[in-house]
Amino acid sequence: MDEALRLKAVDKTFRGHLSIGSHQVLRGVTLTVPRGVIYGFLGPNGAGKTTTLKVITGLLFADAGEISILGQSVEDRSVRGRIGFLPESPYFYDYLSGYELLIFMGRLQGVPAARLAARIPGLIKAVGLEGKDRLQLRKYSKGMLQRIGLAQALLNDPDLVILDEPMSGLDPIGRREVRDLILAMKDQGKTVFFSSHILADAEMICDQVAILVKGKVVQEGPLESLLSSEVQFWDVTVRGAAGMVPPPGCSVLTRLGTQLLIRVDREETLQDLLDRSRAEGASIRAVVPHKSSLEDLFLSHIPGEGR
Ligand SMILES: Nc1ncnc2c1ncn2[C@@H]1O[C@H](COP(=O)(O)OP(=O)(O)OP(=O)(O)O)[C@@H](O)[C@H]1O
Ligand SMILES: [Mg+2]
Repeated sequence: MDEALRLKAVDKTFRGHLSIGSHQVLRGVTLTVPRGVIYGFLGPNGAGKTTTLKVITGLLFADAGEISILGQSVEDRSVRGRIGFLPESPYFYDYLSGYELLIFMGRLQGVPAARLAARIPGLIKAVGLEGKDRLQLRKYSKGMLQRIGLAQALLNDPDLVILDEPMSGLDPIGRREVRDLILAMKDQGKTVFFSSHILADAEMICDQVAILVKGKVVQEGPLESLLSSEVQFWDVTVRGAAGMVPPPGCSVLTRLGTQLLIRVDREETLQDLLDRSRAEGASIRAVVPHKSSLEDLFLSHIPGEGR
């Protein structure tokens, strides 16, 4: 068994009063997270990411479908001891210090006191809060709160770490720190399943991703198999070619004095353009290939955003 998490045809509907205004949020969500990977669960706002994470962590019940975690059914409560969870915008009682929060959460999770005392200093160091752990949480910055939240998710030394938008609201440095912490979790052999709509972060660290749109997984797989490695087009900058007529198949994006920015989408056309530029005595300043990114893939699945 080398799956950390498996969801099969999971449905969830939120029902209004007397079932009026019921809203199906998850529609047959199916995905498989192998052990030891960093898995990005991506989707736009309202897609159902948080709902899925709550169903996995047992905070909500699914209406239908199967969920297995580390080979055990989600209904088997003992599996919760092997999961760490960082909720979206966690609310912490802010008169506690970071250290007290970890003690409190550790006790709630049933971690024995001696183990907690031994483990907390290392966790505080790992998340970069050394010297700040006796400060009240109300004096923490958002980045510090996110880091104490990550420490809290690691208290029970979980095999599977589930993080809801771990990088949201952080500045670029904070995001990089959280990315590094996630990579460190993987190095320790943990599986990390996190939701995000910050695609650049996901692209940097994920081995696998699933894209959720309106409660359905529209694509899932290893990142490299989802992103085409082929160049989609090249942007070529040539200078000193005021009178040059580019060969057919080229589109001139901008013309600034004698400098032209030209887009080509076929390799033969690129070669023709380079030959003609040289023949006209123009200098080739740049040839920039563009491959499809996770963002292109993501947008292609959102109605109205596809190209
Ligand atoms: N307790 C609830 N009762 C009724 N509707 C809910 C409840 N929780 C979530 N929803 C609805 O379910 C849909 C999905 O919400 P969810 O929070 O799972 O999305 P999300 O993908 O996490 O979005 P975001 O990126 O904004 O965090 C939304 O339309 C939301 O209004
Ligand atoms: Mg959410």
